[in-house]
Amino acid sequence: MFRWGIISTGRIANDFAVGVSQLPDATVLAVGSRTQQAADAFGDRHSAERRYDSYEALAADPDLDAIYVATPHPFHAPNCITCLEAGVAVLCEKPFTINAAELEQVVNLAREKGLFLMEGMWSRFMPATRKLRELLASGVIGDINIVDIDFGFRAPFNPQHRLFAPELGGGALLDIGIYSLSFASMVLGKPQRVLSMAHLGESGVDENAAIILGYESGALTTINTAIRTTTPHQAVINGTLGRITMHPQYWFPQRITLEVYGRETSVMEIPMNGNGFNHEAAEVARCVRNGQLESEIMPLDESLELMRTMDELRGQWGLRYPMED
Ligand SMILES: NC(=O)c1ccc[n+]([C@@H]2O[C@H](COP(=O)([O-])OP(=O)(O)OC[C@H]3O[C@@H](n4cnc5c(N)ncnc54)[C@H](OP(=O)(O)O)[C@@H]3O)[C@@H](O)[C@H]2O)c1
Repeated sequence: MFRWGIISTGRIANDFAVGVSQLPDATVLAVGSRTQQAADAFGDRHSAERRYDSYEALAADPDLDAIYVATPHPFHAPNCITCLEAGVAVLCEKPFTINAAELEQVVNLAREKGLFLMEGMWSRFMPATRKLRELLASGVIGDINIVDIDFGFRAPFNPQHRLFAPELGGGALLDIGIYSLSFASMVLGKPQRVLSMAHLGESGVDENAAIILGYESGALTTINTAIRTTTPHQAVINGTLGRITMHPQYWFPQRITLEVYGRETSVMEIPMNGNGFNHEAAEVARCVRNGQLESEIMPLDESLELMRTMDELRGQWGLRYPMED
């Protein structure tokens, strides 16, 4: 069994524990929380045998194969450092950190210690996304010229919530814009130019943003991201020979529409087979068991590039977080 430790007991930590339970060869052995009460309740819910009242105590457990970090964004870097210093492999929720300087520190530490580290961009490991990569590699839609991606939802305004609070790294970009940037990076690689505009709301974080990425090939990606407006959550990849659309949400895809001009449209149903987190957890176990220090599907240098792009975007908007001053 691959033995997971989980840092924190929030919404996504619960979903991840369910994903692990869907794997035949993995278990949640331990959980760490800021409070014993929350650790015990989580342990009861997910049959995690060991429950710690601090993240440090969890990281010191000698029997863990990897730790999943699921705290709000600003705690990702310090929590990853705690785990790596304790000698444990880490899977960290997106966005990996608040900025590239923090991520460089975390990545350097993992490399120094020879420990596995990965950003939890779960969409990349889902069956339909794997199929998409195969289709793109086959060249079926020709050269890719235009990619359109959107991800927006309407959250009620609450300045205390992590989505809106600057001290918790609030804003659309770090929470969900990262999915679109990561998707674009998977399809077209590193952009040469980045243009954007954002609306900063009442709490000073980006509530809506529009981004254009330009590539050496001449290809362009457009991205819309929002936390006060619901959008269709689509990704459409337009090539010289055809087009691919990911449904129902490109970041949780279960259907691919492939249109090759002059041929009949094909719609591929690709079931999730689990809650989605099972696939990313399986990838971590595969890599750690193989002695790999990173995953080829979500490599660290790509996560670093994505973080640098997000720094550049926030620079264009004049958005700095309190912990960056
Ligand atoms: N992959 C995805 O689909 C997905 C979806 C949602 C969120 N996420 C990511 O997961 C992370 C957590 O999001 P979430 O929605 O699960 O958040 P959440 O429900 O608020 O849970 C966060 C947990 O972090 C711990 N924590 C430590 N310091 C905290 C602080 N100062 N304020 C609040 N909580 C603190 C708490 O656990 P203890 O009290 O037990 O210590 C809390 O339950 C975010 O970085 C987010 O981007 C990913």
